[in-house]
Amino acid sequence: MPPILELHGISKSFPGVQALSGVDFSLELGEVHALLGENGAGKSTLIKIISGVYQADQGQMLIDGQPYAFHNPREAQRAGVATIFQELILYPELTVAENIFMGHAPRSRYGLIDWRAMRQRAQELLASLEIYDMDVDSKVGAMSVGKRQRVEIAKALSHNARILIMDEPTAALTEADVERLFNIVRLLKQRGVSIIYISHRLEEIFMLADRVTVLRDGQHVATKAVRDTHESDLIQMMVGREIDDLFPKLPSQLGATVLRVRGVARHPLPRGVSLEVRAGEIVGLAGLVGSGRTELAHVLFGITTAQEGEIWLDGQRVQIKNPSQAMRLGIAYVPEDRGNQGLIKQMKVRENTSLAILRSIARSGFINHQAERDLADRFVRELSIRTPSIEQVVNKLSGGNQQKIVVSKWLASKPKLLIMDEPTRGVDVGAKSEIHRLISQLASEGMAILMISSELPEILGMSDRVLVMREGRIVAEFSRAEATQERVGAAMMGEVYRQPIPEKA
Ligand SMILES: Nc1ncnc2c1ncn2[C@@H]1O[C@H](COP(=O)(O)OP(=O)(O)OP(=O)(O)O)[C@@H](O)[C@H]1O
Ligand SMILES: [Mg+2]
Repeated sequence: MPPILELHGISKSFPGVQALSGVDFSLELGEVHALLGENGAGKSTLIKIISGVYQADQGQMLIDGQPYAFHNPREAQRAGVATIFQELILYPELTVAENIFMGHAPRSRYGLIDWRAMRQRAQELLASLEIYDMDVDSKVGAMSVGKRQRVEIAKALSHNARILIMDEPTAALTEADVERLFNIVRLLKQRGVSIIYISHRLEEIFMLADRVTVLRDGQHVATKAVRDTHESDLIQMMVGREIDDLFPKLPSQLGATVLRVRGVARHPLPRGVSLEVRAGEIVGLAGLVGSGRTELAHVLFGITTAQEGEIWLDGQRVQIKNPSQAMRLGIAYVPEDRGNQGLIKQMKVRENTSLAILRSIARSGFINHQAERDLADRFVRELSIRTPSIEQVVNKLSGGNQQKIVVSKWLASKPKLLIMDEPTRGVDVGAKSEIHRLISQLASEGMAILMISSELPEILGMSDRVLVMREGRIVAEFSRAEATQERVGAAMMGEVYRQPIPEKA
């Protein structure tokens, strides 16, 4: 039997970028095949070709041994290829059932939408994925990311997909939702659905995938059975050298208290948070997704305002009413949602990196273009941002490279206090260690840093002090020496270990 999907010699270029050159790939029936590679290696481009979003410049695609070329995503869907892109594309105002059957609702004899049949089939589809906690009549807009993703999967399968493609599906999920996603993947695999799975989290590849294909610079490096490979092997193939995904933290001298927060609350989260960050200190904020960390960051950056409590900056009581005021006070925020908050996607790399510091490079109202170019050049080099030039429009960059630009934009602003929310999400191992190096360096130069992360190794590796947040409150505090995976993990889950926080004046 031929593989369900075969690609031979696929090439694709964009102006100034050879995104793929001569890539071979195959997918067997009922296989989970992981696609791995650095930011900009060509993973998303490859799956967009398979799903009809882009057309290959060269090469051949076979499905069940038959040549195929899709001119648009609908044709791919009809042939049984379903794709869950990283940006979920549901209609928030519509219900679960309406979203699932958008564009192909069951119809009655007179051509009217058969609402009963539609709801019934939606229910059956959800049940077939063992999803029992979802009402097909509720609107999608108010649902969690995890639930919305399950709706997307049900929608994909409503077209009788035989090939399911997922591009970084776990990047924004809670641990519980990741677990549920994995169950769905295993369920589908048992039913003979073939799955292409993209992720930067290597441990997921070992948990889920049968085979893994590594791309580098748009070229096929290797395809291996997962059981015949190990993590350092994969990293070596991805980046062409050995690398540790954590940069060793530099020692730094703690200075005066930069940020002092007392009893800050805003309904529903956070619910009375007190904390301090000193100059030169990296404070890691751990917690489960939904524990209120991002909401706290929003209050500190003026995206929302505190309803209770006090915020002090450099010993001065401040009222932070909006982000521009926060920036004037010397606070910077690297948001978790790069899509909506981090970048102006229609603008160039150069313009985006200098956005946060326009005032310092603009003299008497004119931007110093040389300074702007130098700055952008420096970050492109230091973070290996893959772009044909600093004049490229940001939305043409790969997802991870966009994230690197968000980070550099704020690093460039040299704030007193830098708040980072999941700074390395979606970023490959090499770039991750570069970002860690920069953060560590900034701290050693005296910046105060509050770093939210859901990755414990990142929290433990980078932080001078670890705070754990749960249900809107800080429930534990650990020094760097005390912070272990077990202790921090237990505090996150609300188990046993709970150390009272010393109340400072
Ligand atoms: N529409 C486009 N126009 C111009 N260049 C593009 C376009 N889409 C992708 N590219 C370029 O093609 C290359 C491969 O991008 P792709 O999105 O496939 O990477 P990726 O492996 O998915 O990376 P990531 O891990 O960051 O998501 C990158 O250099 C990117 O900038
Ligand atoms: Mg991608």
